Amino acid sequence: MHHQWLLLATCFWVIFMFMVASKFITLTFKDPDAYSAKQEFLFLTAAPDAGRSLRETHFPEELKLTGKMLPGGRLIQPLVYMQRLELVRNVCRDDTLRNLSHTAVSKFVLDRMFVCDRHKILFCQTPKVGNTQWKKVLIVLNGAFPSIEEIPESVVHDHEKNGLPRLSSFSDAEIQKRLKTYFKFFIVRDPFERLISAFKDKFVHNPRFEPWYRHEIAPGIIRKYRRNRTETRGIQFEDFVRYLGDPNRRRLDLHFGDHVIHWVTYVELCAPCEITYSVIGHHETLEDDAPYILKEAGIDHLVSYPAIPPGITAYNRTKVEHYFLGISKRDVRRLYARFEGDFKLFGYQRPDFLLN
Ligand SMILES: *[C@@H]1O[C@H](CO)[C@@H](O)[C@H](O)[C@H]1NC(C)=O
Ligand SMILES: *[C@@H]1O[C@H](CO)[C@@H](O)[C@H](O)[C@H]1NC(C)=O
Ligand SMILES: *[C@@H]1O[C@H](CO)[C@@H](O)[C@H](O)[C@H]1NC(C)=O
Repeated sequence: MHHQWLLLATCFWVIFMFMVASKFITLTFKDPDAYSAKQEFLFLTAAPDAGRSLRETHFPEELKLTGKMLPGGRLIQPLVYMQRLELVRNVCRDDTLRNLSHTAVSKFVLDRMFVCDRHKILFCQTPKVGNTQWKKVLIVLNGAFPSIEEIPESVVHDHEKNGLPRLSSFSDAEIQKRLKTYFKFFIVRDPFERLISAFKDKFVHNPRFEPWYRHEIAPGIIRKYRRNRTETRGIQFEDFVRYLGDPNRRRLDLHFGDHVIHWVTYVELCAPCEITYSVIGHHETLEDDAPYILKEAGIDHLVSYPAIPPGITAYNRTKVEHYFLGISKRDVRRLYARFEGDFKLFGYQRPDFLLN
């Protein structure tokens, strides 16, 4: 782990020198896109409101842009990940977003974090973002099963049997030690796409046997949030959106217990302003991010991330538009108001096509 920090520090130094140099000399870039990428990077590190330029685009484009920035390959990848961490730091300092970016490192957060002591890794679970695969990777690393293929589906989420302890199961001192010294990561994706995925997975076709979503949670949401009282269909995405955007939904959330992990914010799950994560992965660029995380965590020679079917991680605006069709602007704006912290912290573009 030590030499990786050294490497990171070296990278920072080289980039810093590059920036200083570029202030005095006009570098000639062969590719005009590369130039604008460099401008964006300088802006990102120099300006206090650094997030803006990043927020303008989704990350897949960002990755390509910065990918062209420096010749020679090696420094290129880490830059994207450093920019993400820097964006988080900047947004965390923004007082107008304080309530949307900060949270207590409570038992709820510590319950979300899984521990691999053997390789000093903490993984914060963000459901609906391909987390099952990461849990499998860590289960194998912890030694309970020899390979990912050999883990029965029923055991992946059974933390009594899978040998993947939660951080909350340790003493305070042990928790602090791990938070300070371990490699820490989590994965995000477009916040609204994640909500669509949660809705589909929990209320439309629940692949696991989890009847409480449809038989307890859905009726609870409908009772309080259905607009059209003569409508008798099961829960609709509109009901879900109205529930999530309601600032007074707390009591219902308490009633739903830990099931809310599928739709509360990344901030509430992982406390990104309180815990200094080593890497934040993006679902949209998982093909690059998964191997990078394994490498940074020092485990790339031990496990590989399961094959990612092509196309499934890409942001699908058509799908988002389809789900939000017919939902009032007021309800969508309330929803955005709740998730704005997640959009800004992780560089996701404000979905103006839904809000205006
Ligand atoms: C943030 O939350 C606190 C306490 O819940 C509240 O008093 C305050 O008005 C909120 N600030 C903003 C900007 O929403
Ligand atoms: C309310 O739902 C009923 C039943 O689906 C439907 O016939 C009616 O048009 C709806 N009313 C409004 C205002 O959407
Ligand atoms: C995007 O979503 C729509 C609607 O769900 C679907 O028909 C389409 O195939 C998706 N596009 C891609 C590229 O996956």
